[in-house]
Amino acid sequence: MNRLAVVTGATGGIGIQLCRLLARNGYDLLITGRSEDRLRMLANELKALQSIEVNFLAGDLSDPEFRGRLFEMAPGTPSVLINNAGFGDYGPFAGSDWEKQDEMIKVNVLALTQFTHMFLPGMVSKGYGRILNVASVASFQPGPLMSVYYATKSYVLSFSEALSVELAKTGVTVTALCPGPVNTGFAKAANAESINVFKQSSGADPEQVAGYGYRMMMKGKPVAVFGKKFKVLIFFERFLPRSAVRRMLYRIQGSRSK
Ligand SMILES: NC(=O)c1ccc[n+]([C@@H]2O[C@H](COP(=O)([O-])OP(=O)(O)OC[C@H]3O[C@@H](n4cnc5c(N)ncnc54)[C@H](OP(=O)(O)O)[C@@H]3O)[C@@H](O)[C@H]2O)c1
Repeated sequence: MNRLAVVTGATGGIGIQLCRLLARNGYDLLITGRSEDRLRMLANELKALQSIEVNFLAGDLSDPEFRGRLFEMAPGTPSVLINNAGFGDYGPFAGSDWEKQDEMIKVNVLALTQFTHMFLPGMVSKGYGRILNVASVASFQPGPLMSVYYATKSYVLSFSEALSVELAKTGVTVTALCPGPVNTGFAKAANAESINVFKQSSGADPEQVAGYGYRMMMKGKPVAVFGKKFKVLIFFERFLPRSAVRRMLYRIQGSRSK
């Protein structure tokens, strides 16, 4: 088994922490994000931390040509693939910017699906692989005012769970990591900083979220919901009528500080 890990979204809050963990555990890394400067800085930091190889490629995951280049850059089949890159967009869908919705679907859904499709056959033939797809607690319900984002994360959960069954006994596992709000650049990128659920004080620490995701991925857990509060919420939500869930989410998403 080689010790190569491919990580998308390596320039952001959760991705950086996942890369640090992988480096500490001796993985060589192929990392990506759009910011070349931040990738270079992280690569230097990780190489100083551990004697590992760290390669990076900066680019936009919504671009199919870039996705192909990243795949070709991988020196063989990785034993770990982390599909972490993703972003949201806050506001009513009718008034939203189409370019941003289009890019979101390509990054959150298409790139994640394509990388899984590209690397999975090699993992299966080697009889080992760990895939971590970063979903969200948003995966479990519709999200008025962030409708496309919630729908993309529902896709990630559904896709990951389905694969986890198909891959039983192959030595390859797929884990959907489902955190609630985390203190990263996410809220700013989604124009959601004034929304109460995204207030920095209430969010989780990205290092803890990454640590939990890493452990659950290594154990091969199909679904990993971060935090007791969200585990309980998701459990009890099943017994509510969908109409009540939709209204509750609309209230939560619409609540902003004055
Ligand atoms: N923070 C939360 O509250 C929260 C909660 C649940 C789930 N999540 C999920 O966690 C994952 C990581 O997000 P984060 O919280 O760490 O946010 P973040 O700090 O904003 O990081 C997002 C990462 O995705 C990359 N990315 C975004 N658009 C891209 C594009 N078009 N092409 C290539 N890379 C792109 C960013 O790279 P560049 O900036 O270099 O482009 C960055 O590395 C996402 O999938 C997000 O949906 C976050």
